[in-house]
Amino acid sequence: RVLRWAWRLGYLSAIAGIGYIGYGVYQDRHPEDQIQPDPSKKTLVILGTGWGSVSLLKRLDTENYNVIVISPRNYFLFTPLLPSCTNGTIEHRSIMEPVRTILRQKKASVKFYEAEASSIDPDRKVVRIFDNSEIRGDITETEVPYDMLVIGVGAENATFGIPGVREHSCFLKEIGDAQKIRKRIMDCVETAAFKDQSPEEISRLLHMVVVGGGPTGVEFAGELQDFFEEDIKKLVPDISDRFRVTLIEALPNVLPMFSKQLIEYTESTFKEEKINIHTKTVVKKVTDKTVEAEVTRPDGTKESIVFPYGLLVWATGNAVRPVVKDLMGRIPAQADSRRGLAVNEYLVVQGTRDIWAVGDCAVAGYAPTAQVAGQEGTFLARLFNNMAKTEALEAKIGELSSSLNLQPGNSAAISREIEGYERQLRRIKDAKPFQYSHQGSLAYIGSEKAVADVTWFNGNVAAAGSLTFLFWRSAYLSMCFSTRNRLLVINDWLKSKAFGRDLSRE
Ligand code: FAD
Ligand code: NAI
Repeated sequence: RVLRWAWRLGYLSAIAGIGYIGYGVYQDRHPEDQIQPDPSKKTLVILGTGWGSVSLLKRLDTENYNVIVISPRNYFLFTPLLPSCTNGTIEHRSIMEPVRTILRQKKASVKFYEAEASSIDPDRKVVRIFDNSEIRGDITETEVPYDMLVIGVGAENATFGIPGVREHSCFLKEIGDAQKIRKRIMDCVETAAFKDQSPEEISRLLHMVVVGGGPTGVEFAGELQDFFEEDIKKLVPDISDRFRVTLIEALPNVLPMFSKQLIEYTESTFKEEKINIHTKTVVKKVTDKTVEAEVTRPDGTKESIVFPYGLLVWATGNAVRPVVKDLMGRIPAQADSRRGLAVNEYLVVQGTRDIWAVGDCAVAGYAPTAQVAGQEGTFLARLFNNMAKTEALEAKIGELSSSLNLQPGNSAAISREIEGYERQLRRIKDAKPFQYSHQGSLAYIGSEKAVADVTWFNGNVAAAGSLTFLFWRSAYLSMCFSTRNRLLVINDWLKSKAFGRDLSRE
């Protein structure tokens, strides 16, 4: 009997699941007609199509403003699965969502310009933009005026001015970076397999060096070792004993934001996976074939060390984008801010009016993560929706107050109505400042293992291993932007498991 009920329950859940997916697909394909821009409304300009800006767009009632989105990237990128694109576990388009599809779902139409903001003039309230794509028209540069501006341009890769980094290494921030790395891994392998290649050169070419032991560096090192163990080794066995992954970190340990036991677990798993970790090692210079670093020994002495490499991936965190630096230079209140735009508790850029900032380009006292950026975007959407409601309520109250004089007979009813609106207004105006709610940190560390520091009933639960890997997969699958993304990612996981990853170099 229990089995029969379990079977029925499974059957019903399957129907509900198919219904949910079907509805998602239908909704994507047949959005309603959109309300057109209205010159009497304020113009809200949003810079960027990343975590912060897209979370804002997702929940914004676009009918309240004339919304304009400007970004050099006409898609949203689900960054947590980007390391999996470097080895082909996931195909890059599976984690991209076209911004035009997102905007088409909104009630009122939103303008999108594929362009980069080069400067912001807070006095004239204009953003200067330029088209930096390959194909350009007659106009490549122009200005966009705004009434309200949200800056969500993220951050660029930090290099700390270390010589040779920009010229010789790969970063891991954008889709193009992941594609470049995937291509280079296979180029190194095929070049190492070239006829009569010397043993030293084979060792150099197959030495993959990752600089930065934050989550980006750790996840990438794990994915790389998987690629080698599960695919390259089987298909190119003659050179496989030379393949090595080295992770270099300046601090005494990797993953500094995770708890001590998870750091130890990650380091011991890397040892088993034969990933070499060099901690307390600071990279000082990069050439086309070597990484030069300085290591601090346990007795405090320093020693120089040279790592020949075939592929170098640089993952040492974030730096401020030029457009943000330029704006900070124009605002005296930003003079002491170093890591981005200092914002107040409502995410308003300090020292400005009508400019807000979200995500990695904003300094609100939180780590630069997708989780923070997403919550900030959602907060701003609520704030802007409420601001529009406030204006509408104030207009209604103004209208009713003037009719109070004109219709003295109705004064009691009108006063009651006004009181009702005033109560609503007070509730809206009581909007609480932004407060981040940390759900936890997750990272993949290779060999189908993950580490997780999860917030649970105001406490912290640390977990690691294969079950955590399943949790990691299901958490990120549920966080994917759309039903389409989820189906594509599941398909990629199944495909790479069944047939192996694709070793073609393209
Ligand atoms: P982004 O998402 O970087 O978006 C910035 C947007 O601005 C982009 O659309 C960009 O094209 C656009 N832009 C850039 N310059 C301009 C300009 N001049 N004018 C207009 N637009 C511009 N965080 C987590 O919480 N969990 C994770 O698992 C996780 N994994 C990650 C894995 C990797 C490989 C990386 C690199 C990061 C990961 N992060 C993760 C961090 C997370 O991706 C960032 O914190 C998050 O993307 C920040 O969101 P954002 O909106 O500020 O910026
Ligand atoms: P990071 O800032 O977290 O780590 C960079 C590391 O590079 C630091 O540990 C630093 O000590 C090291 N470093 C800097 N200069 C160096 C040098 N010259 N030589 C050697 N090591 C050097 O950067 P990361 O990993 O790119 O992450 C950026 C942000 O994105 C973080 O806030 C992170 O939490 C978030 N993120 C989160 C992920 C997750 O939750 N799974 C995955 C990826 C990123």
